[in-house]
Amino acid sequence: MNILILGSGGREYTLAWKIAQSKRLGNLYIAPGNAGTEEFGENIPLDILDFHQLSILIKEKNINTVVVGPEVPLVKGVQDYLKLSNPKVLCIGPSQKGALLEGSKAFAKEFMAKFDIPTAAYLEVTSQNLQAGIDHILATEGPIVLKADGLAAGKGVLIIEEKKEAITVLKEMIDGKFGLASEKVVIEEFLDGIEFSVFALSDGQSYKILPIAKDYKRIGEGDTGLNTGGMGAISPVPFVNDNLIEKVIDRIIEPTIKGIQEAKLDYIGFIFFGLILVKDDPFVIEYNCRLGDPETEAVIPRLENDLIQLFELIKDQKLQAAEISINPATAATVMLVSGGYPQKYTKGYEIQIPESGESLIIHAGTTYNQGRIVTNGGRVIAVTSLAATQREALNRSYQIAEKIEFEGKYYRHDIGFDLG
Ligand code: AMP
Ligand code: GLY
Repeated sequence: MNILILGSGGREYTLAWKIAQSKRLGNLYIAPGNAGTEEFGENIPLDILDFHQLSILIKEKNINTVVVGPEVPLVKGVQDYLKLSNPKVLCIGPSQKGALLEGSKAFAKEFMAKFDIPTAAYLEVTSQNLQAGIDHILATEGPIVLKADGLAAGKGVLIIEEKKEAITVLKEMIDGKFGLASEKVVIEEFLDGIEFSVFALSDGQSYKILPIAKDYKRIGEGDTGLNTGGMGAISPVPFVNDNLIEKVIDRIIEPTIKGIQEAKLDYIGFIFFGLILVKDDPFVIEYNCRLGDPETEAVIPRLENDLIQLFELIKDQKLQAAEISINPATAATVMLVSGGYPQKYTKGYEIQIPESGESLIIHAGTTYNQGRIVTNGGRVIAVTSLAATQREALNRSYQIAEKIEFEGKYYRHDIGFDLG
């Protein structure tokens, strides 16, 4: 099978690393990829939102399967486009309608209401019912959660303590604070609990659950400071016991899969359930139509199955037959970022990379400049280690993190701190 991975981060590096291990692989291409993905396949400089060029590339390289890493191409309809332009190609990623589960918070909330999936209570607000939104805020106790309906590069969720400020921000959002993405706003009840990430792979009919993870979104230790794309991840998550998994399956995953079929969302690929445990019960915070980053860097190394075999089963709609095998070890991922991230930072610093030993050094924001590997993003490199205990896995990742060098390097030293 010839495979093309779309994307350039740590998630896509990890997928390339995994796919390259399969005997079923013919050629692997990554578009655009990063300095590390070249180890596993050929990087192709391509604008992944240029679907026309993409379809030409697929024909030229005789690609059978496209694995879509990030959400934007899916929300913009890459799967639907390829269905027409390259009908024989398997796209791991949902249709544009399916991707609305991530691309529109209002759509996701309506979907959850319709299929009785536990989530925070909410109100949808536009310029048409702004006063209802203001009244809703005034009547709310506790923090106010405001979410831009559309994609806003991870910045569209605001949690505000003060009612007056929340009303001001609501107005700003509807007036275009996040462009068209916030013309519609979802006001949500604040849920107080601990978050975790569950991933399923679906062929549209059945699904398989992948390892469960927890990511660390804040820049600062102790979960403080600004939100980032993710500063680290742990898999498995000790508090997600069998009893909780059963609740997640019964109340969330099964009704979601049933809903996807009933609503004819044409959903093939990864489903990311961003969940929160409130007392003893799981609720959906968000759906994503892709794998998480950096969760993938912890989850995929624990998956023992051949990923291409799973893709083949998806193609035949026989995923039901797969037996998922998961390494019981704990994976600990630590993300090394550029100084200043998630705000302003400088790119182009040379990176010194040590021997990885038994750990995985995962390129995220890296590129080549005159033969040297240099920083090319906020999140630069992730280190994942597997070990019998979380402490040991973290120790190994931190030993490597310490040895990786680039100007302004920063990472959190407390990944997994709340998991014991
Ligand atoms: P989202 O982009 O929907 O994942 O939201 C970003 C982050 O905001 C989540 O990871 C949560 O930490 C937080 N968040 C979102 N919705 C809620 C909610 N209803 N209650 C509490 N925290 C929330
Ligand atoms: N780590 C969260 C995300 O990928 O959205």
